[in-house]
Amino acid sequence: MLFRGVLAGALLLSAGAVMAQQDLAVQQDNLMRTQAKYLYGVISRTVRGQSPYDQAAIDAALVQLEESVGKIATVFAVNPKEDVFGGDYGSSPKIWQNKADFDSKIPPVTKAINDAKGKIKDVASLKAAYTEINDRCNDCHETYRLKLR
Ligand code: HEC
Repeated sequence: MLFRGVLAGALLLSAGAVMAQQDLAVQQDNLMRTQAKYLYGVISRTVRGQSPYDQAAIDAALVQLEESVGKIATVFAVNPKEDVFGGDYGSSPKIWQNKADFDSKIPPVTKAINDAKGKIKDVASLKAAYTEINDRCNDCHETYRLKLR
């Protein structure tokens, strides 16, 4: 009886270990969407003239973006083993085979954000900063983000 209980417990544990975590996949995706909100929703829209130039909004977006980027390594610590249902993008399994390399793609984004602080005065300087930051985001996406549809 005791043996069967232990065995059942072990089976439950291993089932939990391999069980996909949709809530975690959603959390990871939401972090990326938050970054998109600031970089694309505020900064890129201003570059393209779809939003009026608003220095306070740009400065705030940079601060929020930096805060969000600082969470990537932790939020992506564990492999959720499935993609967000119905999502356009997924995580490559390579992230968790080579987490140190994945994490090494984060500081260049933070550096690009910090380099931009205090230098953005108009649409032209905003455009330069946008390109610099976005290229660093894509350095990670190239290797670790999968297009699902
Ligand atoms: C260290 C790697 C890494 C960095 C740096 C990174 N991303 Fe991502 N991003 C990912 C991965 C992996 C995915 C796919 C899984 C997901 O959506 O959570 C992704 C997905 C996305 C998506 C698609 C979300 C969706 O499903 O619609 C957007 C938008 C995005 N990232 C924006 C950004 C922006 C903006 C930056 C830079 C400020 C950035 N990312 C930096 C790894 C990264």
